[in-house]
Amino acid sequence: MTKNQPIIEIKNLSKVFPGEGVTTSALEQVNLSINQGDYLSIQGPSGGGKSTLLSIIGLLDKPSSGDYTISGVEVSQLSQAQIAKVRNKEIGFIFQDFNLIGDMTVWQNVELPLIYRGVKKAERHPLVQQVLEKVNMLEHARHLPTQLSGGQQQRVAVARAIVGSPSLLLADEPTGNLDSKNGDSVMQLLAELNRDGVTICMVTHDSRYANFAKRVVQLVDGQLAESSDQSHLASVTSGTVSESVTPHSVVIATAEVS
Ligand SMILES: Nc1ncnc2c1ncn2[C@@H]1O[C@H](COP(=O)(O)OP(=O)(O)OP(=O)(O)O)[C@@H](O)[C@H]1O
Ligand SMILES: [Mg+2]
Repeated sequence: MTKNQPIIEIKNLSKVFPGEGVTTSALEQVNLSINQGDYLSIQGPSGGGKSTLLSIIGLLDKPSSGDYTISGVEVSQLSQAQIAKVRNKEIGFIFQDFNLIGDMTVWQNVELPLIYRGVKKAERHPLVQQVLEKVNMLEHARHLPTQLSGGQQQRVAVARAIVGSPSLLLADEPTGNLDSKNGDSVMQLLAELNRDGVTICMVTHDSRYANFAKRVVQLVDGQLAESSDQSHLASVTSGTVSESVTPHSVVIATAEVS
């Protein structure tokens, strides 16, 4: 697929979490299109729906309604096995809370996506080594996640997300637990990956880092907005509010395009 073709197309997507007595409308009629090679930053207040949106984009959760196509394929038409295959082959995910496997070493955690993909052991070794060097964690390869600081765990999570050379990298607060030096190096790494053609969709509270992205959208109370002067870059429109939910305020803000 070439640049400027949508890798992600989301139309009128909503996500409702039903609960006892309280139903949370996490995403409301979201429209978003992400092109191949894009670097999108999603900003917004806590509880605005950022992680929910990223989980749906990353095929970890399903929308309650609306359309979602990835590389031209409507996700609702895919079987569980096909979804797993796309997720393993195409998508790298950096989770807000790392999600490292506690009884596996750093090396094993990073190697796991390659095992899922069926990469042979001899080929896995140099890939894991290279990526751990990249995030400066090779010397901790034999440690368990509990033996690491939050920042170190974050870097392992980054290594695990990128080891399989995903075409789409989803990052939920990738610098949330890092000091500015390590935060900067993770952001440099993401910028490098994007220059190499990886499409990136990142959630961040940190406005310094949001500006690394080519596009910034705001997600507030489940609604997405991007200012019109960014419209030449891609098509994102704020959703309309359905009758069953209370209208929320939509904040529009943009970052400078590099
Ligand atoms: N599994 C779930 N069950 C019920 N409600 C949920 C679930 N996951 C998220 N929510 C609700 O959906 C809304 C959006 O949550 P989400 O985690 O997407 O927000 P966020 O923008 O990522 O926030 P933060 O910046 O704090 O990480 C919140 O009101 C949250 O309580
Ligand atoms: Mg979140």
